[in-house]
Amino acid sequence: MSKPRFITFEGIDGSGKSTQSRRFAAHLQAQGEGIVLTREPGGSPGAEEIRQLVLTGDPDRWSPETEILLFTASRRDHLEKTIEPALAAGKTVISDRFADSTRVYQGATRGDLRGMVDSLHNLMIGREPDLTFIIDMDPATALERGLARKSGEDRFEDFGLGFQETLRHGFLALAKANPGRCVLIDGNRTADQIASEIAAHA
Ligand code: ADP
Ligand code: TYD
Repeated sequence: MSKPRFITFEGIDGSGKSTQSRRFAAHLQAQGEGIVLTREPGGSPGAEEIRQLVLTGDPDRWSPETEILLFTASRRDHLEKTIEPALAAGKTVISDRFADSTRVYQGATRGDLRGMVDSLHNLMIGREPDLTFIIDMDPATALERGLARKSGEDRFEDFGLGFQETLRHGFLALAKANPGRCVLIDGNRTADQIASEIAAHA
C-alpha cells in the first residue's frame, strides 16, 4: 500500500477499538513510521468541544438529525485541523472511529436516515479511509466492558443492549458492502491475539 495512509477502527461501544488502535499505532511506530493517533468524535480542539455536547446528557437530548449535523461538524473540523495536515506531512493517520460510525449509529438505528448521512458526507467530508478494521463482537460482553469504564460519556451505551445489537448488524453489513477497504476482525479473543492479527495487515 502506498503511503501516507489513513486507517480507521470501527465497531460497537466497548469492542476494543481504543485498545487496538493504540497497539497498532505503537506497532507501526516501532517500525519507524510517523503516526498520528486520533479519535472521533474529537481529534481537534473544536471537535473535542462538540464531543462533550453529543456524549453527555440524556439519551433523548438530541434528535438523530441534529446528531448527524453535530458529528459531521466535528468530523469536518477534525479533517481540516488534524487529519489532512498530518497526511500532507507524510504521516500515517490512525483514527478510533470515523464516518462509518455516523453511517451506522445515526444512519440505521432510529429510522432510516442513511440517505441524509450520505448526502452530508459527500457535501462536507468526501473522503474515505484507505483501510478500516471493523472489530466484531458479542454486544452483551462489549456493553459490560464499556459501562465498566464509567467514563461519564455513556449516552449511547445508555440506549441499551437492543441498540448495540442493531449497531453490530449495521457494522457487519457495512463490512460486507465495502470489502475493498474493510477488514472484519473477531473481537471475542484476547487483546494480544487481536493485535497480532491486525499487525499482519501493516
Ligand atoms: P472501545 O474503544 O471499542 O470502546 P476499549 O479498547 O476502550 O474499547 O475497551 C473497552 C474495555 O475492555 C477496556 O477496559 C479495555 O481494557 C477492555 N478490553 C479491550 N480489549 C479487550 C479484550 N480483547 N479482552 C478483554 N478486555 C478487553
Ligand atoms: P467512543 O468514544 O469511541 O466510545 P466507545 O469507547 O464507547 O466506543 O465514541 C463515543 C460514542 O459516540 C459511541 O457511543 C459512538 C458514538 N458516535 C456516533 O454515534 N456517531 C459518530 O459519528 C461517532 C464518531 C461516534
